[in-house]
This record gives sequence, structure tokens and C-alpha cells, in this order.
Amino acid sequence: ETVPLEMHKVRIVQKLCLPPVERRLEKITEAGNNTFLLKNADVFLDMLTDSGVNAMSDQQQAAMMVADDSYAGSATYTRLENKLRDLFGMHYFLPAHQGRACEHILAKAFVSPGKVVPMNYHFTTTKAHITLQGGAVEELVTDAGLEVVSVNPFKGNMDIGKLRALIKARGADNIAFVRMESGTNLIGGQPFSLQNLADVSNVCKENGVLLVLDASLLADNLYFNKVREEHCKALSIREITRRTADLCDVIYFSARKLGCARGGGICIRDQGIYQRMRPLVPLFEGFLTYGGMSVREMEALTVGLEETMDEEMINQGPQFIAYMVDQLQERGVPLITPAGGLGCHIDAKRFVDHIPQAQYPAGALASALYIASGIRGMERGTLSEQREPDGSEIFANMELVRLAMPRRVFTLSQVKYAVDRLAWLYDNRRLIGGLSFIEEPEVLRFFYGLLKPV
Ligand code: F0G
Repeated sequence: ETVPLEMHKVRIVQKLCLPPVERRLEKITEAGNNTFLLKNADVFLDMLTDSGVNAMSDQQQAAMMVADDSYAGSATYTRLENKLRDLFGMHYFLPAHQGRACEHILAKAFVSPGKVVPMNYHFTTTKAHITLQGGAVEELVTDAGLEVVSVNPFKGNMDIGKLRALIKARGADNIAFVRMESGTNLIGGQPFSLQNLADVSNVCKENGVLLVLDASLLADNLYFNKVREEHCKALSIREITRRTADLCDVIYFSARKLGCARGGGICIRDQGIYQRMRPLVPLFEGFLTYGGMSVREMEALTVGLEETMDEEMINQGPQFIAYMVDQLQERGVPLITPAGGLGCHIDAKRFVDHIPQAQYPAGALASALYIASGIRGMERGTLSEQREPDGSEIFANMELVRLAMPRRVFTLSQVKYAVDRLAWLYDNRRLIGGLSFIEEPEVLRFFYGLLKPV
């Protein structure tokens, strides 16, 4: 077996507890079978997300101590702005408190009723902000992207033919912008190729349409470009980063995933585009030189962005995930292949093929996994969708339980524990039943909806 090797050592630790199974059953019932509503004290391995929970480096911690705490014009902000200019080559930057705040600003500035936003694939908060402004999302990922079992190295690619056809059918004036998501989250942390981004960029240029990159999961995407794409093998991560950025007009990111543990922002090439979004920052986020972030997290972000250029740093997530995927595959557990970034994605459609989609198979599996192991994963299936305006369910293309791999957080033996418990649960899968809502929020229902066994 190929075993990943940690290129760091642990210097600060946090104690974990593993509650007994009876207590786990009690706690998940109290939480309405929604893993978002569990208390961390009742969780052994928190694989809910990689958002805000990646390990920080000693250099990031050190930088936080020298932050310049002024409301306007702090040196901390200037350092962050300079780092982003240096890496992405875009002159303008708008800070925001996290990724969805960037999406709010972009949607408010560019989306109105009748406008369409084509994208490789949607993300929950992105789609919510676009539809809130009256716009529509069109997913143009290649058909290969939706094949759960695959050897395709770039399942996050956009279908160029579909993009051209959509622009022709709707008219370029009705396209708010085209959005590409790196490390495509909801289809299993799957990357796009640099070549595909170049092709998308060409179509956008030909039609005078803006190209916006969601770079929240850029670190994983860069790593996969480097190791899976022939023409990137000779390039450094820094060079791939710049080539990626050069193809885009706007880059936004959740710094909870990229470079830090909090924050976000929007990098912009063109002054006019910058001026269109700028008024929204003081209104919703904070003054232009902090945008809702603390100076300490901005310092950590500046260092974290630089550390993202280190291949031995950004390879840790994907290598641990590849190990977990290999081990689970050997034990017959159905999951998304090839291994992507972000985490390991269990295919609930096949795992609990006796549970109909209307009974939220992925939600049911996430709940059962917690009972069987104390591991907290996240539903990424029909529960994470929103109903149509007429109240009918949208059945997700994929029913996934995501076991996120926060970078440099878990040891190999903890990963082995997760593999062992998942294999046990798979052997006993007929114990798992479906779920129905007790209480269903209208927007982003997966965050705090309550469910019970059918
Ligand atoms: N875009 C992508 C691709 C994301 O994965 C996220 C967050 C956001 C935007 C929103 O950023 O959380 O800072 O407001 N993903 C988290 C997750 C929530 O668990 O996958 P945010």
C-alpha cells in the first residue's frame, strides 16, 4: 500500500473524546439526525468540513502577533493586498468576512432577474445568493463529472460545447458571468484542468463575458494540475497559480479553506468591475481595509497564501484522501473515484441502495456513521438542495456523505479507524433506515433542519 508521509510535526494538540455508542445515539437523536447540530464535545473525529479547521503553521501563529490593529489603512491589509497582487497579478482587492460574503457581493453587483450564471457546478451558498437576486444557475460540468466511478483526472471540467450553446441560446448580455469552481466541492472535490480553464476563458473573451474563479479549493486544484496534467509537470505551483489567475477576470475565495482559518476576499483585474462592487463592502462587510476580518487572521492569511505555493504543504490533503479512498475501495465501500481534494466522498446511493432519494439516503448514512463511529461527516445530496418554488424536491445528482480531511489535522491511525468503522457499517448497511423532516427551513435547510427516522 502507498502510505502518505507527514511533512510536518505536531507541536500543539487538542484532546479528543470518544463517547460510547449509547450516548452517540442519544446525541444524534437530540440533533434531529443532522450532523451540523451535534456538539463538538460529542464528536471523535470531526470530518464535517475542512472550513476553518485546517492546522495552522508556526509561521502563521507568529505573524498573528505582529498585526497592525487600525480601523483604516493598516499595514496588515497592505501586506495581504501585496501578497495577492504578487500571486494572482490582479491589481484590486476587496476583503470580505468569508466566501459567501464574496458571493453576496458578486450576486448583488451582477445578477438580476433573467440573468444566468453558467458554472462547472454549483455550490450551496453560491446558488442561494444567485437565486436570491432573481438569477438562475446553469451547470455545465462535462458528463464525465457526474460519473461516480471513474478514472477521469479532471471531473471538474466545464463542457465547452454546452457553454457555447448556452451563450448562443440566452445571449451574451444575459450572462451575468461565468463561474468556475476549483476543486469542485459538491461532486467530490474534483479539479478542472488548466487547459479546460483556458478553453472556458477563450469562449468568455470571444463573447465579452466575465470569467469568475471560485478559488476556495484552489490548493487542491493546483496540486492536481501539477501531478495529473502533462504540461504542468515542469511548472512550479507558483507558475500554475499565475497561469490560472491570468485566465480569469475575478478571483474570489473563502479564506476558511484557502490560506487561513477565517475570512475571504475578491481579487479584480479591471477598475470598472472593482468600482461596481466596492460600495457593497463598507455596507455589508466592514471598511475597505478589513472587510469583516480581524487583522490577526489577515496576517495568518498572508502567510498561508505563501505556504500554499509549497507543494509539500498542499500535497498533504490529497495524499491522505487518496490513502483513505484506496483502503475503502479494497473493502468494497462505494465511493467517488478518482480520489479528489477536500475529503473522501462515500456514495450513499449505492451504500444504502434500499433507501429512496425522498428519504435522504446520504443524510441517513451520515447519521448512522456517527452512531457507529463517533465520526461526523456531512450530507451532500438531496438534503443540501433547495426545493423548487412549487415545493417539489430537487433530487441531487449525487447522494454523498463527505468525510472532509482538514489539512494536517488527523494522523494515519485516525484515518485507519475511520476506514475500519466505515467497512463495518457497510457490512451492516441494512440496519440503516431513511429520514423525514420534523422541521424544514426554507433556505439552506441542511444547516439546521431537524429529521427523524421514517
Ligand atoms: N465556495 C466553495 C467552493 C466552498 O466550498 C465554500 C464553503 C464557499 C464558497 C463559501 O465559503 O463558507 O467561507 O462562506 N464551503 C464550506 C464547506 C462551507 O464545508 O464545504 P464560506
